[in-house]
Amino acid sequence: MSFEEPAAIDWAALQYDALSEDLGDDQRWSTWRSVDRSSRGPQPWPAWLVTSQAALDTELGILKTGKEADVWLLERGVPNGESCLLAAKRYRTADHRLFQRASSYTEGRRGRDSRENRAVRLKSGFGRQIEATRWANAEFVTLKRLWAAGVRVPYPAQLDGNEILMEFVGDGVAAAPRLAQCDPNPDQLRWLWAQVVEAMIRFGAQQLVHGDLSPFNVLVTGLSGPEPELVIIDVPQVLDLVSNPNGVEYLHRDCRNMADWFVRKGLQVDADVLLAEVLAAAW
Ligand SMILES: Nc1ncnc2c1ncn2[C@@H]1O[C@H](COP(=O)(O)OP(=O)(O)OP(=O)(O)O)[C@@H](O)[C@H]1O
Ligand SMILES: [Mg+2]
Repeated sequence: MSFEEPAAIDWAALQYDALSEDLGDDQRWSTWRSVDRSSRGPQPWPAWLVTSQAALDTELGILKTGKEADVWLLERGVPNGESCLLAAKRYRTADHRLFQRASSYTEGRRGRDSRENRAVRLKSGFGRQIEATRWANAEFVTLKRLWAAGVRVPYPAQLDGNEILMEFVGDGVAAAPRLAQCDPNPDQLRWLWAQVVEAMIRFGAQQLVHGDLSPFNVLVTGLSGPEPELVIIDVPQVLDLVSNPNGVEYLHRDCRNMADWFVRKGLQVDADVLLAEVLAAAW
């Protein structure tokens, strides 16, 4: 009878298994390495961003259920090591949406693959998945472009299917309030308006229009101090000021939405003056 040597133990595999059994329902391995380079945020990567392969993503809770996406708070961290907070915006498939995007936003935009376009039209499961992925992709690409142009938007960390991971705008784990919920004092109001003007001029210089800009899509940090900061969010529907036939009309609406709020709060500003300034930056 021959003696059989027991198979060598694969310690690396064992350790991995032991760890993955420890993953809770609200955890996964960091997806940083599983997406390609173009699906990661612009370099240099900010110092706070955890890029370690050993990191875990832990869902801390839902921040907001929106019309077309849910936003979750996520912690990405190495157990007992570095960690960061991220906002995970996950687009829902079309049948869970509360409204459909007006087609005037997408005029002139075409998908390349006709099978994909057919699937979207026919609203097959595949089609719904593709549509959610397209909106996520559109928003991620735009965030990268705006970030590079110096517009204060959340740093776009990563895209993975229908999920965008971005800088969490907040104070500790408390999300920053939207401008619509804030009641700034007169000095803060002037300071915030200057940032609105600057951000919109930077959009204009890129010949881009937000298209859904309002005090609901602007977050504010540092309200307890004299110089609060604006962060503009929710940019999947950004449109081209020049090639889109409705570009100027949408820009005018964005200007009115912002100016009207500041006027109601007591600051004398003019939407049409803002429009003229943005148009001057674009041409
Ligand atoms: N990066 C972020 N940091 C902190 N909170 C965020 C971030 N991104 C989104 N949120 C929160 O989630 C909400 C919804 O985000 P967003 O506006 O991008 O999605 P939406 O689907 O268009 O939602 P809505 O229908 O409310 O406009 C925001 O109003 C804000 O409260
Ligand atoms: Mg929004």
